[in-house]
Amino acid sequence: MKVIDLRSDTVTLPTQEMLDSIMNAELGDDVSREDPTVNILERMAAEKFGKEAALLVPSGTAGNLIAVMTHCRHGDEMICEAEAHIYYYEVGSMSAVAGVIPRLIKGTRGTFSAEQLDATYRGKELHFPNTSLLAIENTHNRAGGTCWRPAQVEQVARFAHDHGMKVHIDGARIFNACVALKADPREFAKHVDSVSFCLSKGLSCPVGSVMVGDKEFIDRARKNRKMLGGGMRQAGIIAAPGIVAMTSMIDRLEEDHQNAKRLALALQRECALSIDMETVQTNIVVADVSPQPSMDFLAKAKNSGILASSFGKHQVRFVTHRGITDEDIDEVVERLKRP
Ligand SMILES: Cc1ncc(COP(=O)(O)O)c(C=O)c1O
Repeated sequence: MKVIDLRSDTVTLPTQEMLDSIMNAELGDDVSREDPTVNILERMAAEKFGKEAALLVPSGTAGNLIAVMTHCRHGDEMICEAEAHIYYYEVGSMSAVAGVIPRLIKGTRGTFSAEQLDATYRGKELHFPNTSLLAIENTHNRAGGTCWRPAQVEQVARFAHDHGMKVHIDGARIFNACVALKADPREFAKHVDSVSFCLSKGLSCPVGSVMVGDKEFIDRARKNRKMLGGGMRQAGIIAAPGIVAMTSMIDRLEEDHQNAKRLALALQRECALSIDMETVQTNIVVADVSPQPSMDFLAKAKNSGILASSFGKHQVRFVTHRGITDEDIDEVVERLKRP
């Protein structure tokens, strides 16, 4: 029985073109900025987001932590959504490593308004920490891959900047948002101070994320990356598939989005799972499997060769990606509807 793995788009394997690019990459010591392949990737990324500079980092988690460390000082506060990855899934690094306290906004499908931000922001007062950063997540993972539109980003970023905060986008899957909204990455990036995005998710690279910002920010981020042990020497072997990804893997994300929609509709119709279809905007489907515990649902699915992940006591997440075909979607539904 073929195993159909919908746990995450991080399970995607590199393409042959990526593997060839690794074999042929021109390499050097990136800590001394002498890896030509890393330099090309960083220039491409900066250009794509309309920013001055970029930095290759080992992972999305590293990119977020480096952004927090670079924008904030120990004892500062940052504002983010209550279920943001940076808060929910990154081992508390913002506090444990960067010394930053989070202040949370409960969003609606992952986004919030400038009015909500205003209501959350405490202002400058002797007793309060300095609020130095707003982080938003596009697409929002726990909300089901939902998108922030450029106009929404503009509104919250304007409030943040007017009140002395920097703005970071955790754009692990920002190209999914770009494809879904038919938006250029610059439309998001122009409103904010930094964006990090993952090469290793839907874009299918084996490793790596990139952060972009102005030159002064990236210079300081490079130093923080070094402090955290993220100076990676001949990192061109990571950058080479990243260049392939940025040139040829973005447009195909549309297929993953179509598959996610088809999967969500069929899971609702044929397997009686409850799904908020308004959240199915990109490549993630979050289903409520009540009254079953998600772990029971997942164990049963695994017995039928379907892998997904738990997203709460009764919530299950399915992620479509390059390794999932149209036929796989039909097969998933067939297998899950069996008693
Ligand atoms: C929104 C978001 N941000 C950051 C990350 C972290 O990326 P990584 O797994 O490369 O550390 C993820 C990973 O799933 C994510 O979904």
